[in-house]
Amino acid sequence: MKLKTFFLTLTIFCLNIVYAQTNDLPHIVKKDNRYALMVDGEPFLILGAQCNNSSAWPATLPDVFPAMKKLNVNTLEIPIYWEQFEPQEGIFDYSVVDEIITRARENNLRVVLLWFGTWKNSSNHYMPEWMKLQPDKFPNMVNSKGEKIDSPSPHIEATLQADIKAFSALMQHLKEFDTKHTVIMVQVENEPGCWDSVRDYSKNAEKIFNKPVSADILKALNLSPESNKNWTDVFEKDAEEYFYTWHVATFINQVAKAGKEIYPLPLYVNAAVRNPFNPGVYEVGGPTDNVFHIWKVAAPNIDILAPDIYESETKVYLKLLELYSYSDNPLFVPETKFENPYPKFFYSALGQGAIGYAPFGLDNVRVRIKENGDVLTDEELLEPTALNFRTFKPMAREIAKLNFDGKIKTAIQESAIDPKSDRGSSSDRKNYITDKTLSFDGWDFDVAFGIFGRLNRLKNQPEQPDGRILVAELNKNQFLITGYHVRALPRPTKKTNGCNWYYLKVEEGYYENGEFNVKRIMNGDQTDWGLQFGTPTVLRVTLYTR
Ligand code: DGJ
Repeated sequence: MKLKTFFLTLTIFCLNIVYAQTNDLPHIVKKDNRYALMVDGEPFLILGAQCNNSSAWPATLPDVFPAMKKLNVNTLEIPIYWEQFEPQEGIFDYSVVDEIITRARENNLRVVLLWFGTWKNSSNHYMPEWMKLQPDKFPNMVNSKGEKIDSPSPHIEATLQADIKAFSALMQHLKEFDTKHTVIMVQVENEPGCWDSVRDYSKNAEKIFNKPVSADILKALNLSPESNKNWTDVFEKDAEEYFYTWHVATFINQVAKAGKEIYPLPLYVNAAVRNPFNPGVYEVGGPTDNVFHIWKVAAPNIDILAPDIYESETKVYLKLLELYSYSDNPLFVPETKFENPYPKFFYSALGQGAIGYAPFGLDNVRVRIKENGDVLTDEELLEPTALNFRTFKPMAREIAKLNFDGKIKTAIQESAIDPKSDRGSSSDRKNYITDKTLSFDGWDFDVAFGIFGRLNRLKNQPEQPDGRILVAELNKNQFLITGYHVRALPRPTKKTNGCNWYYLKVEEGYYENGEFNVKRIMNGDQTDWGLQFGTPTVLRVTLYTR
């Protein structure tokens, strides 16, 4: 009896340990079609930056971390190169990954590791030398003219097994080395797919393409099982792209599955997106918006299909955020540009419920030259992102929670403002220019973008419209507001009897350890003309009706 009780207690103890460990692991949760990335058991907002492609070396890391500090990021996105990780077949070198994790901890940063494996921007350039030198064993694809192209074939078992082996070694090592969960997510491959051909036309691939589509694939895609129909019969004009996409996605899924079985961190695949309004030429095979349905069934071990957004047109950027935040997919922007007009889209991403956002190429390893020939200064490189993240870093957890609860709305300035127009000198609501209205339970916020009043006469006006605002409902009648080059004026949704102003209290402050600290109470000129954000401050605004 005693022995039985002992074993029962031991079992419960062990189960608790397993539960606690899995529970502490970063993971993604879903509620009412919204998502949160849980880190240390709480929603986490990735304020990230990605370093340049060749910056993840011990020799260059000293030029990466100081930039991260200036940016005020909480997460570094950084590659692990297969060629470095497995220099000889079956021999793994963990020194760089360990160095990255150790330095990230010293700098109080989390890490998203990017597995530069079989695919990097459609090529095989990060395969180790021992693989590149065996092109017959690990071949690239062949185009419709029979020419070899610079992209690995997804139909090769040897390549798949080699990638599985290396990725598994990486995940096994993370499991053992990274017990503090500094690494919160891993990107599997980088912009997989192909720019130069819609599929592989090698003899091997031709055979598979002309075979009947398997019943499993048809079932997965919700199609009726039709015997003996090949890809062209079933998918007609889309056959080649779907065929190739299916095989890239299933290849990557197998790599992801093997890694996840060892260490189940959230995994994602990034897409070189296509312009949804005007696709033109784009990289096929990756998770572009037209093939989500294929990726979702072919790659169930991938948690997120993530857009790399380098499209600057507002309409296109916003559409991509909307497409990649559909009900089955958490929105995460792992790459985007850092310069204007891009930083304002960080707010748009939050408005779509993003779990993270990270501009690309932000370190001091690479010198960038501007169009006029001058070297881009540190300030020009880092400040546009820092401007956003300085404000958000202290309250990143709060924002992630509010977003998970569906409490956040945002707006951005879409068009330039005539500097001669006076958009802000009157407290009379009739004369107030409204570009957007953000509506909450009981309150509307009329939003006007631009720099106001006399500031309109400032020299060095922004070349691009750069206004942005975020309003979050904290409690009934209480809101958190931040923004840049914007003014917001609250009003009760229901009509009241001509009363213009409804502030009970407007507090300027900042979050620290989950508490809002008040710096000052704003009143008089600072509120009577609306809540103005010439620089990004954080306001807690309590409203009432009389
Ligand atoms: C997208 C890729 O994913 C990045 O690694 C990088 O190559 C950028 N394009 C371009 O600099």
